[in-house]
Amino acid sequence: MELALGVDIGGTGIKGALVDVTNGTISGEKHYLPTPQPPTPTAIAQSVRELHTRTLPSKDVPIGIAIPAVVHRGRTRTAANIDPEWIDFAAQDLFEEALGQPVALLNDADAAGLAEMRFGAGREEHGSVSIITLGTGIGSAIFIKGELLPSTELGHLTIDGMDCCPWASAAAFHRDGLSWAQWISRLQEYLSYYESLIWPELFIIGGAISEDADRFLPLLQLEARVTPAQLRGDAGIVGAALAAC
Ligand code: BGC
Repeated sequence: MELALGVDIGGTGIKGALVDVTNGTISGEKHYLPTPQPPTPTAIAQSVRELHTRTLPSKDVPIGIAIPAVVHRGRTRTAANIDPEWIDFAAQDLFEEALGQPVALLNDADAAGLAEMRFGAGREEHGSVSIITLGTGIGSAIFIKGELLPSTELGHLTIDGMDCCPWASAAAFHRDGLSWAQWISRLQEYLSYYESLIWPELFIIGGAISEDADRFLPLLQLEARVTPAQLRGDAGIVGAALAAC
């Protein structure tokens, strides 16, 4: 067993757990805190510290943190579902200061993708794979021959000038009171457009709504194969932990 702490910062909640990075399983308890409002760097760093204390009272293990933003060399460059203060912000430095040790920082969809490619639905895949996470926003992770192209942010593709991220995410399903058929038609439009640009061989669809994959994945009409994520809600935590090792 080789342990790392994975932390997954979302628009709604922040999750953290120790992960056995040799097999991608959560070791011990999973901890959850609601995302502080407003989700500023200082407030989120405090929550991450709290999770760290709850998860790791004494052990010294590597830490990976997944965040819903473009990440370039430790700086967050965008902020769609978190406070605008994160734009062009030295996020890695802030977390390292808050936790008193080095951390790995990466985009949350990239983290989910790393976990799925190593231990989940992408395990045997060597071609062009796109992981799409459907949650508060839409995240994308692209792998070519197992290599990640980081921070692609293709959840924000625009159709007729409209950002697909708030329109076709799982949050839209709930927020706009959509029927499954109405939401699936938005998702279809988004994924068809995505496919016309990238042409992946496989889509892996993640996010909590993928627990209901049977209700929508078989109805999507795409050229690529489509499969649900296997690590479901844990992919971000597991991928963050992998990034730390
Ligand atoms: C953010 C992405 C993130 C996705 C999923 C989007 O709003 O821009 O960075 O991967 O949400 O959380």
